[in-house]
Amino acid sequence: MTGGHLQIVVCAAGPAADVAQLISAAQKHSWTTAVTATPNSIGFLDAPAIEELTGAAVRSSYRVSPGDRRSLPAADALLIAPATYNSINKIALGLADNYAMTSVAELIGRKVPTVIVPFVNAALAARSPFRHAVASLREEGAHILLGPENQWEPHPPGSGKDRQRTFPWTTAFETATRLADAARSARSGHG
Ligand SMILES: Cc1cc2nc3c(=O)[nH]c(=O)nc-3n(C[C@H](O)[C@H](O)[C@H](O)COP(=O)(O)O)c2cc1C
Repeated sequence: MTGGHLQIVVCAAGPAADVAQLISAAQKHSWTTAVTATPNSIGFLDAPAIEELTGAAVRSSYRVSPGDRRSLPAADALLIAPATYNSINKIALGLADNYAMTSVAELIGRKVPTVIVPFVNAALAARSPFRHAVASLREEGAHILLGPENQWEPHPPGSGKDRQRTFPWTTAFETATRLADAARSARSGHG
């Protein structure tokens, strides 16, 4: 498998604490990673540990520290995980009210292969705005790991802690690399 650069966007839900699993899976396959966090997710993750692993600052605001790149790095794939009810609805509507949402809006617009892994309970997932958001993002080309074909379903309200343990980090990474490989092949005319 060819390596590449994976842009990870983390939202404010329990599995954010385990994003190191995704970073490790990517690194095993020679991918570089960087994490962008929604402002609400900062309290869910261990930013210094992530920075140590990735070698890149965790970005959550437009402010940059000396030495940080101001522009977005070229990404071979974008993986939004865990993706909250709130952020999925915002992404579908095109809202860009924080640095993470602005990055996502631009990367999707640039047609960067995008995988979204929702972590939502069944009550939220049943809401009409959420169902429309998922359909609209799929129509736009994003790959959303949700539903029986993806073996990843919304969990009953109150069971998030248990479900967090089975968050599909490996499947998410494999899906992102598959989409990135397909995009590379299409660009080089071998698709
Ligand atoms: C402890 C805790 C756990 C939460 N778990 C979830 C969750 O699993 N899924 C979800 O969609 N929202 C969850 N939320 C609510 C989101 O954090 C909230 O909607 C927030 O505004 C999302 O911000 P973001 O989408 O900008 O990251 C949780 C909130 C708290 C305080």
